[in-house]
Amino acid sequence: MNDENKDLNNENKNNNIVSQKHLRHFLDIEYLPKSLILDILDLAESFAGVSGQPVKKVPLLRGKTIVNLFFEASTRTRTTFELAAKRLSADFLNINVDFSATKKGESLLDTLRNLEAMHCDMFIVRHPLSGAAEFISKNVSQNISVINAGDGRHAHPTQAMLDVFTIRKYFKDFKKIKVAIVGDILHSRVARSLIHALRILEVPDIRVIGPKTLLPNGIEHMGVTSYVDMDAGIKDCNVVIMLRLQNERMNSSFIPDEHEYYNLYGFTPDRLQLLSKNGIVMHPGPVNRGIEISSEVADGDRSVILQQVSNGIAVRMAILSLSMQPQPDN
Ligand code: NCD
Repeated sequence: MNDENKDLNNENKNNNIVSQKHLRHFLDIEYLPKSLILDILDLAESFAGVSGQPVKKVPLLRGKTIVNLFFEASTRTRTTFELAAKRLSADFLNINVDFSATKKGESLLDTLRNLEAMHCDMFIVRHPLSGAAEFISKNVSQNISVINAGDGRHAHPTQAMLDVFTIRKYFKDFKKIKVAIVGDILHSRVARSLIHALRILEVPDIRVIGPKTLLPNGIEHMGVTSYVDMDAGIKDCNVVIMLRLQNERMNSSFIPDEHEYYNLYGFTPDRLQLLSKNGIVMHPGPVNRGIEISSEVADGDRSVILQQVSNGIAVRMAILSLSMQPQPDN
């Protein structure tokens, strides 16, 4: 892409930011200013308390209708978006595309037009194709916001936000930490969005670790260092994020066998001592025990995997509330 096209592209993406207090859509993380990311984290912090109250609701999105439009399986992301919307008092619809009219031949655009006719205010979209959420955002009417809940291997911006929210709970200063992401980087939208977020937050040492076949060519251009040796890669890290082998996105065999993979890249208890003294272990889920992580580590005291899930609700509440379009002035 030449510079002129790049500028145009950036301008286009920045149109998704209406103001620091308001987002048009939430599709990607790489174009967000650092100050906005920090504002979202602070807002999420204030929502975190709501889940602990006897009445777990605030009236911010009362009267709004939010739709989960999931074209791919999901447990954590789908349900935490649903809980986030409900805790903000929005009306909420789950469209399970497996059972919807799309299966009867209706086009995606027709499905969208019908949902628009029901006066929905926001679509939360998960889709196996990269770029699907952006496509939908360009084809909905002005008053509808689109949130990307994961598109192909491209981006998963709300997961990146909940990951940095979780990291900040343990390490206040992003400029002083070493972070490693381990496993199937090639097929991982989580890794891509997280790398962008960590770069924007000025994390000085970001590492990606995996077999050569699962490290994308040229990944260093994203500002990371790559390692094929797990022990060298996680040495002295404050945060290690483990990823699943995303077999459903693989079109051929990328590793010799799972047993061998576990020996080379599995987070076994003995590897814990390589981390910094207070180092933490994260995983976006779903966890495949005995393949990329042992049960002992996943359930151990360095693991913050379930905290990531809880934090997902507060972070998604913050993103939903910032992305809701204001009522036009009367
Ligand atoms: C991830 C996803 O769907 O990209 N999971 C998630 O959102 N919690 C990671 C994965 O599928 O491995």
